[in-house]
Amino acid sequence: MNEKIRICINDVNRSFTVGEDEGYVLPSETLLQTLRNRLGLTGTKQGCDQGACGNCTVIMDGNAIASCMVLTADCDDRSVTTIEGLEDPVTGELNPLQKAFVDNSAFQCGFCTPGIIMSAKALLDNNPCPTDDEVMESLSGNYCRCISHYQVVEAIHAVIEKGGVNYAGLSIHWQACKPR
Ligand code: FES
Ligand code: FES
Repeated sequence: MNEKIRICINDVNRSFTVGEDEGYVLPSETLLQTLRNRLGLTGTKQGCDQGACGNCTVIMDGNAIASCMVLTADCDDRSVTTIEGLEDPVTGELNPLQKAFVDNSAFQCGFCTPGIIMSAKALLDNNPCPTDDEVMESLSGNYCRCISHYQVVEAIHAVIEKGGVNYAGLSIHWQACKPR
C-alpha cells in the first residue's frame, strides 16, 4: 500500500509517496539517494554507502546522521538540513562555518568537506563552546583522505572565537567560551 510522507528539507516541506510504482520512493530508498537523485542536492556526498566514512552527513532534528543509513520512508515528519541549507536563503551568503573552512584552507579535494561541516554545525548548535576533545569526538565519524584534520579543527575554533555559526551573531555563546 502506498504511504504519503512529508519531510522538511532545508526549510521547505517536501511530500513523497512511498510505494513500488514508478516514480515513488521505494521502501528501500535511502535519504542520501532521495537528496541526491530526486532533489538534486548533490552537496551531500556518497562515499562508502555503509555508514563508515561520514561523507553523507546531514543534520536531522538537530543531530548529525549518516544519510546513507536512513530510509526515506522512515523520515516522515522529520526536519533535515543539508550543506545547501547553510547559506543565507536571501543573500546566498555562506554560513560563517563555511567561510571559516575557506579562510583556514580546511580542505584539499573537498569531497569530505560537506559532511565534516554538517558534523561541526551539529556540534556547535548543541555545544557552542566545545573542548578540543569534543571537537575531535564529533568528527570521529568523518574521514578525510587528504589529511586536512588540523585545518578543520582550526576552522572550527575560528568560528567559536568569532561568535557562533548563525547570522544573528550569537554573542552570548562566545562570551561564555573560555580561551583555549
Ligand atoms: S556514504 Fe554514508 S557514511 Fe559513507
Ligand atoms: S579534503 Fe579530500 S577527502 Fe577530505
